[in-house]
Amino acid sequence: MSDRLSLPKGRIRVLLLEGISDSAVELLAAAGYENVTRVAKALDGPALAEALHGVHLLGIRSRTQLTGAALGAADRLIAVGCFCIGTNQVDLETAARLAIPVFNAPFSNTRSVAELVMGEVVMLLRGIPDRSRSAHQGGWDKSAEGSFEVRGRTLGIVGYGNIGSQLSVLAEAFGMRVIYFDHTTKLPHGNARPCASLGDLLAEADIVTLHVPETSDTVGMIGPAQVARMRTGSILINNARGSLVDLEAVAQALRDRHLLGFAADVFPEEPARNGEPFRSPVQGLHNVILTPHIGGSTQEAQSRIGQEVARKLIDFSDTGATMGAVNFPQVQLPARATGARWIHVHRDTPGMLSRINEAFGRRGLNIAAQYYQTQAELGYVVVESVEARDQAESILAELRALPGTVRARLIYERE
Ligand SMILES: NC(=O)c1ccc[n+]([C@@H]2O[C@H](COP(=O)([O-])OP(=O)(O)OC[C@H]3O[C@@H](n4cnc5c(N)ncnc54)[C@H](O)[C@@H]3O)[C@@H](O)[C@H]2O)c1
Repeated sequence: MSDRLSLPKGRIRVLLLEGISDSAVELLAAAGYENVTRVAKALDGPALAEALHGVHLLGIRSRTQLTGAALGAADRLIAVGCFCIGTNQVDLETAARLAIPVFNAPFSNTRSVAELVMGEVVMLLRGIPDRSRSAHQGGWDKSAEGSFEVRGRTLGIVGYGNIGSQLSVLAEAFGMRVIYFDHTTKLPHGNARPCASLGDLLAEADIVTLHVPETSDTVGMIGPAQVARMRTGSILINNARGSLVDLEAVAQALRDRHLLGFAADVFPEEPARNGEPFRSPVQGLHNVILTPHIGGSTQEAQSRIGQEVARKLIDFSDTGATMGAVNFPQVQLPARATGARWIHVHRDTPGMLSRINEAFGRRGLNIAAQYYQTQAELGYVVVESVEARDQAESILAELRALPGTVRARLIYERE
């Protein structure tokens, strides 16, 4: 079997900014993508525009601002991988208009967050933050007063998605009772039990931990009334989004000893970069753990993110698959042993599919498989033919010339 590609892999230029994990480079190399340039930091302005010149696959993390102007300077770009969770740093609409799918790794750090929550549950039930601070300052407070085991306590998980359900398994292994509230029906893991409402969960749990996204329903979901509903001596943990919790209400409940403890990794206002000052109403209070949005930041998560996003870039370049793209029609494709495969991205107008098919029909070629998805005003078609021999390039030229075409590419021709 041999591949003839419109662009051989050695000429596909990959640029990875912001010190992306070695795991990404290893996977790219194993798939034949060795023309890789790595830059340790983020770039912007003219330096970014210059670096993007001639690049086909770009990897960034959260600091590189991929604006419309930067994308406009990228003359050969076919896909962007955000080696992180969010994609706010990319002008997704412009990328879609230019037929550039953008990929990310939304769930690679699930386990890291779940583990941090378990650690915080143990630390807060034992009153460790204050005892540790005291010991650092030369104090010695050896007593069992206010220290409790985790086993047998009830953990209330709000949002039973990727993190919530992973946490559920870890908590049961610690001997905890697990209850959860999710606004959609979720299959319980182990012996976990769903609650009918948030109020029911708050009234029953010894520890409440939040794992919902930020939506119009969840912003401010824990305010003074919800804090009051929590059991006296209970604990609140927010490692999800800063806007979910009214921190003034929590601070008051901690001062009143209604809450035994609190941990937060996320805040309504977070410093934009390291070194900038950070202020919060819960600073300096008894039995509180504050962390600088590092719940998902572990070496393992970085390595998984590297693999997950590199895999998506490779699949797109090798097969045309766009599963997991955040701004693009999603198509899952098998790699085929023989034949040729083209992709065609166009402005979604009536009759486009039949004009694409005509390019094959007129040549008497059978279409072996066709995948078609639209999103917003963008149409994405993948066409395969097993018998296109010697005509692959002329078909590509015809597809490129169709009015409304944004981009067409011959993915492979295999014999
Ligand atoms: N601290 C960090 O570093 C860090 C890292 C990763 C994720 N997060 C945050 O953790 C949160 C959860 O992430 P995930 O990957 O588990 O998300 P997910 O999408 O897998 O799960 C979210 C769950 O919340 C449920 N939900 C949504 N709205 C709800 C509502 N109003 N009431 C009840 N349930 C509701 C959904 O049905 C879903 O089951 C997100 O806010 C994410 O931003 C933080």
